[in-house]
Amino acid sequence: MYRTLFLTYVFTFFSLSIGQTLPPLPCTINPTSFFDQTLNHDANSGSASAGNGAFKQKYQLNTTHFKPGGPILFYQGAETSSINCIENTVLQDWAEEMGAMLAGLEHRFFGDSLPAGFNQTAAAPEQYDPLTLNNTLLDSVNFIDRVFVLGGSYGGTLTTLLRLFHPDTFYGAIPSAPLIKSFGLDAQDPDRFEWFKWVSQVYRDESAEAAAKIKEAMLDFSQSLSSPSKLSKIADDARLCKPYPTNVTEWTTFYTSAVIMSYWYAAQFNYHYDNPATFNVSRPLDIIVNQTLSAANNTGEVIRIAPQLYDMRSQDLCLNWTSDRFGSDTVLDQEVFSVITCKYLPANTIDIAPGGIFPPRDGYGNSARNCVNLGQSPTFANKTNAEIIKIYRFTVPDLVKAKRILFTQGSYDPTTAVGPPVFPVSNDRDATRTVLFHGLAHTEELNSGLRGPGTVGGGHSEALKLAHIVMKGTVMDWAGLAQGD
Ligand SMILES: *[C@@H]1O[C@H](CO)[C@@H](O)[C@H](O)[C@H]1NC(C)=O
Ligand SMILES: *[C@@H]1O[C@H](CO)[C@@H](O)[C@H](O)[C@H]1NC(C)=O
Ligand SMILES: *[C@@H]1O[C@H](CO)[C@@H](O)[C@H](O)[C@H]1NC(C)=O
Ligand SMILES: *[C@@H]1O[C@H](CO)[C@@H](O)[C@H](O)[C@H]1NC(C)=O
Ligand SMILES: *[C@@H]1O[C@H](CO)[C@@H](O)[C@H](O)[C@H]1NC(C)=O
Ligand SMILES: *[C@@H]1O[C@H](CO)[C@@H](O)[C@H](O)[C@H]1NC(C)=O
Ligand SMILES: *[C@@H]1O[C@H](CO)[C@@H](O)[C@H](O)[C@H]1NC(C)=O
Ligand SMILES: *[C@@H]1O[C@H](CO)[C@@H](O)[C@H](O)[C@H]1NC(C)=O
Ligand SMILES: *[C@@H]1O[C@H](CO)[C@@H](O)[C@H](O)[C@H]1NC(C)=O
Repeated sequence: MYRTLFLTYVFTFFSLSIGQTLPPLPCTINPTSFFDQTLNHDANSGSASAGNGAFKQKYQLNTTHFKPGGPILFYQGAETSSINCIENTVLQDWAEEMGAMLAGLEHRFFGDSLPAGFNQTAAAPEQYDPLTLNNTLLDSVNFIDRVFVLGGSYGGTLTTLLRLFHPDTFYGAIPSAPLIKSFGLDAQDPDRFEWFKWVSQVYRDESAEAAAKIKEAMLDFSQSLSSPSKLSKIADDARLCKPYPTNVTEWTTFYTSAVIMSYWYAAQFNYHYDNPATFNVSRPLDIIVNQTLSAANNTGEVIRIAPQLYDMRSQDLCLNWTSDRFGSDTVLDQEVFSVITCKYLPANTIDIAPGGIFPPRDGYGNSARNCVNLGQSPTFANKTNAEIIKIYRFTVPDLVKAKRILFTQGSYDPTTAVGPPVFPVSNDRDATRTVLFHGLAHTEELNSGLRGPGTVGGGHSEALKLAHIVMKGTVMDWAGLAQGD
């Protein structure tokens, strides 16, 4: 019996509109091939117009270290082609010791795994018909048989679903930073605030003084949005590049897409390594906190720090409030991912409750609203968060019953706040549980520790080492490979 570990890896559920991914890392170690995958696994899951038959799906396979009876470590691709190489993940670290086979599968509609004739820039809405959750999960079921599944973010949500809905194939699961709640168009759901409560806590934990300074500046900024004279002083103090924003729309976009988003990203992506796709410096949160502490008590000077860092410009240059980095689509794959968030991953996470470091806002965050622009219809149009949680079996009883799910989360990552519920503590090694890793950012614990310090996706931090001990120990126990088993 092969037991397989299945890894999915993704960065962010959704942002206002920016795509966040690791920069392309070519798959340089493990061989890549294609196989004929069924386009519609279920007669109900696609329309005739999308065509039936097969498409070429890309996968990786490496049997170098495989020993009979060893696990198959299987990496599930997620919403971009650039994060799909097994060799960039912790699975590579484990292959030799576990006698494991390494396999990976690119997510349909991304990278090279496209239906015949699919052209993203010119795709009609119905061409996305075969892009359903059922098809995506069944691609993996069809590809590999008995599996331990492990993956992050949207990939963590998929990982959880694979264990819940296909337990015979997926023997155990490690979802990292999955979205497990805060879904739907439910304007009253309290979960919609959890994400930003977490962001506030991260800043407060880092420095109460810096958090208070940010809070004061953000309050002043939000109150100034209706006052042209105050805004012109903020423009001067923030040293915005000229010409300055001319109207409330432009100011509000700057406030939301540059300032609030940069604070949020600095927490979520506070990695131990430079990541050009997020911040091209390591530890952006620490840098922002330090610069905030030494900044003058002045709204413009405080609020410029995070966006300027996110825009990768030195602090002595003007702040380019029209930069493409703020709020526009820089990653092609974001297009397809927004179809996913519309159709079956309706994240509703970015409203802000009173009491944190950011001024409150409401009715902001539902990704299912994308559907209108995309010509798609949401799967859960009229379902509440609680109903969607039930449909996806993300309730405590369902997750407990499933067993062999180890949820992992990073302390900087606001996704932690919309993750799994609290589980009963158990002596059973197979019991579903959640582990929070202090000092790690979004899905960081999935990174390979073999990659050097400072390299993208690289590790070597103490926090990463500690996380890997827990994850590996759990997989070894599940696989019956641990000493004493
Ligand atoms: C397979 O992975 C191992 C590391 O686990 C690596 O050393 C080797 O080069 C890979 N083999 C092939 C054929 O790609
Ligand atoms: C998707 O799969 C579930 C069970 O896994 C099934 O109940 C449902 O009918 C499927 N939906 C479609 C559209 O095929
Ligand atoms: C995809 O569509 C765009 C826009 O119509 C077109 O410019 C491009 O050449 C097409 N690409 C391919 C590979 O057909
Ligand atoms: C705001 O100013 C921009 C740039 O001049 C302009 O394109 C936009 O239409 C203006 N919006 C409003 C609501 O006035
Ligand atoms: C922030 O400041 C602290 C205290 O001065 C220092 O230890 C730390 O290295 C600084 N961090 C960064 C990222 O600059
Ligand atoms: C900034 O303002 C706060 C309270 O408004 C005050 O406690 C603090 O001393 C001021 N800091 C500086 C550097 O002026
Ligand atoms: C980050 O990007 C800026 C602008 O491209 C560049 O000046 C800076 O050197 C980069 N920093 C690092 C650490 O790569
Ligand atoms: C600001 O960013 C925009 C879009 O990337 C670019 O066209 C413009 O030249 C930049 N302005 C400055 C002053 O760097
Ligand atoms: C959702 O509800 C609206 C009105 O409340 C209705 O028009 C629409 O058909 C419903 N959509 C679905 C998919 O049930």
